[in-house]
Formats: sequence, C-alpha cells, structure tokens
Amino acid sequence: MSKPEIIGIIAATDQAGGLGKGGVIPWRNPEDMQMFKRTTQNSILIMGKKTYDELNSYKRDPFQPLLSNRLSIVVSTTMAKEGLYNASLISNINDAYGLAVYLAMPRGYNIFFIGGKQIFKEAVPYVNRVFLNTVRGKFDCDVNFPFEILENFTHDRSYDLENLVCSEYIKKVV
Ligand SMILES: NC(=O)c1ccc[n+]([C@@H]2O[C@H](COP(=O)([O-])OP(=O)(O)OC[C@H]3O[C@@H](n4cnc5c(N)ncnc54)[C@H](OP(=O)(O)O)[C@@H]3O)[C@@H](O)[C@H]2O)c1
Repeated sequence: MSKPEIIGIIAATDQAGGLGKGGVIPWRNPEDMQMFKRTTQNSILIMGKKTYDELNSYKRDPFQPLLSNRLSIVVSTTMAKEGLYNASLISNINDAYGLAVYLAMPRGYNIFFIGGKQIFKEAVPYVNRVFLNTVRGKFDCDVNFPFEILENFTHDRSYDLENLVCSEYIKKVV
C-alpha cells in the first residue's frame, strides 16, 4: 500500500478570481462539472462546512453518497453528527487528512481538498498538486480563491476547452 499519487486542491473560479456567492457557486459550467467529476472519481474529498452545506442541499436522499464513487469528509467545529449519513465529520483538518489517508491507501484512491477558501489555504501543507479551472465571465462573488497559495507551486500546464481554461500546478520542492 502506497500513499495516494495525487493529493490535490481542486477549484474553479470566474475570470475575476471568484469562488462563490451567498454560499453557492453562481455559475453552471458543464465542462467544469465534468472535469471535476472525472478528476475526483474514486477519491476521498475533504471540504469545509459551507461547501458541504451547499453540496448537501442538492441531495434528496440523505443515505446516498454526497458525490457518487467518492467518500466525503467534512471539517467543522459546529456541525452535529446526528443525521449526517453521507460524510464523515472531523473537527480539524489534520485529523481529516489522517482519516483521508487511512481510507485512501487500501483503496488506491486519491485525495482532494474541494473547498472552500478556508480549506484551500489550510490544505497547502498536505497537497502535491492544484487543479484550477477558470470559467468564462464574472459573477460578483463574495469569496475569492486564495491565489497567494500558488507561490508554493510551479505551473505545469494549461489547456483550453470551449468555456473553460484548465490549469495544473505541482508543488515546489523545497
Ligand atoms: N468554485 C469552487 O471551486 C468552489 C468550491 C467549494 C466551495 N465554493 C464556494 O465557496 C464558498 C464557501 O467557502 P468558505 O471558504 O466560505 O467556506 P468553507 O471552507 O466551505 O467552510 C468554512 C467552514 O468550514 C469549517 N472549517 C474550515 N477549516 C476548518 C478547520 N481547520 N477546522 C475546523 N473547521 C474548519 C468551519 O466550520 P465551523 O464554523 O462549523 O467550524 C468554517 O466556518 C461557497 O460560496 C461555495 O459555493 C466554491
């Protein structure tokens, strides 16, 4: 059993660097959704409470996984375990990462920190890659991607899709 090959941050912003507005992602970009789904298949996902709340609000059946073929861990100091069936709840990011490694290794899964802003900042010590997509347009967001974290990474490649630019970064070796 080896450590996960990819331990990544995955995010999408608008052309102004926005991540979200009013607790939701204010655009619908099928290319980004497909890319997110493809990249995170068979992975462990770590997210903050607000991101969990958004994803969970789209679920009708609380017993179904939050996202198919993926295991979810939500980091929060205030959430109650009762009634939480589609994610594991952990109160700090270090223990969340430990659980993610424990779950990922026997399965050969990767690990992704999927947001929001606070989690992206805190994830830097753990990750080896950043997958950062840019969608067309500006959506007057109230939460922006913390671009300063990219100082810790080297740009690897970017490619254009019709309505999306995908960029990948690799952690600098220090
Ligand atoms: N465009 C994208 O790729 C993308 C992805 C994800 C989310 N979003 C958007 O981003 C926004 C939410 O981001 P956000 O930064 O405001 O919130 P967030 O990171 O999703 O959640 C923040 C909450 O998570 C918990 N948390 C975070 N770090 C923690 C830690 N180290 N230990 C314990 N708990 C921790 C805290 O909850 P407690 O207060 O309960 O302790 C905190 O209030 C939404 O608009 C969402 O739609 C966008």
